[in-house]
Amino acid sequence: MDLTTRYLGLTLRNPLVASASPLSRTVDGVRRLAAAGVGAVVLYSLFEEQVRREAAENARLVEAGSESFAESLSYFPSVSELDGGPRQYLSLLARASAAVDVPVIGSLNGVTPSGWVEYARAMQDAGAAAVELNIYYLPGDPRVSGRDVEQRHVDVLERVKEAVGVPVAVKLSPYFSSMGEMAVRLDEAGADGLVLFNRFLQPEIDHDALSVSTAVGLSDPAESRLPRTWIALLHGRVQASLAATTGVDTAADVAKYLLAGADVVMTASALLRYGVGHATTLLDGLSDWMLRKEFTSVAELRGLLAVPTGIDETLYERAGYVHAMREANNDLYGPW
Ligand SMILES: Cc1cc2nc3c(=O)[nH]c(=O)nc-3n(C[C@H](O)[C@H](O)[C@H](O)COP(=O)(O)O)c2cc1C
Repeated sequence: MDLTTRYLGLTLRNPLVASASPLSRTVDGVRRLAAAGVGAVVLYSLFEEQVRREAAENARLVEAGSESFAESLSYFPSVSELDGGPRQYLSLLARASAAVDVPVIGSLNGVTPSGWVEYARAMQDAGAAAVELNIYYLPGDPRVSGRDVEQRHVDVLERVKEAVGVPVAVKLSPYFSSMGEMAVRLDEAGADGLVLFNRFLQPEIDHDALSVSTAVGLSDPAESRLPRTWIALLHGRVQASLAATTGVDTAADVAKYLLAGADVVMTASALLRYGVGHATTLLDGLSDWMLRKEFTSVAELRGLLAVPTGIDETLYERAGYVHAMREANNDLYGPW
């Protein structure tokens, strides 16, 4: 059984990837993920805000040192040591990459096309096999235009591509007027992969405590339908690799994403929920299903149920929608 797949130009032993999560906060955590069988590990994110905070703190320390005496610098704890900032991140990345025989991908999380993107190069130098760029941008200002939001994504990607030679994947949200065009623009701007999708933080209101909670919850398999829809639509229409993220709970979820056209299938919530060993369960389940269906390789089944190329995609989707609405009406209220 050949489970190998290509992602971002890399050959992976299988299509299951541990996506960014606290499970990769230590070298031991990354080792355990690799031992459970995943094809690659994406490290948790280094945030633009952490990079900026460290730069501001370093500038403050230099100023304090020049006013008193330079040796004082060594007595100050650096921000990076206090909150797991950039230096600590790069050190982990270097040690983790050396510790496992699967690719370790660094994750940069930010929204402005400015100096912090240089950290992509530092990640490359630390041994990252690739960089995943998480552009988590919710334009809260209602006067920001859709075109500006899209351009921001392209600008950030271009800055990162200028900084590194390793492949760059873009993790983005589904909330664009034309998700397909956004994907094509990123593809044309040099994205080596698209990671579909970011889960936006959707704050909850506690009406008794009169407070707002911003906790990140674990995902539900039903959430996988949106990314799967777009993977099925983009398969064969962009050069970039396609990574599925959200809602993988069982081996069936992995199989469905591959049938839709994903090159890799990522998982975080399920590993947090059931433990890292669940990766082995997912891979065993994938192999069993392939055996049952008489597939001998992942390449053979990938994209089998993608939206066919050479058709009018909009009509195709619309026809599916109208059919589904008819069926739902028939089921609930009897035939028309
Ligand atoms: C606790 C937690 C922490 C996460 N941290 C990150 C992160 O640092 N960077 C990132 O890009 N995604 C992060 N994610 C998102 C996951 O990588 C993943 O894209 C998302 O949870 C959907 O996949 P899932 O349904 O398999 O969880 C985090 C998710 C969870 C639940």
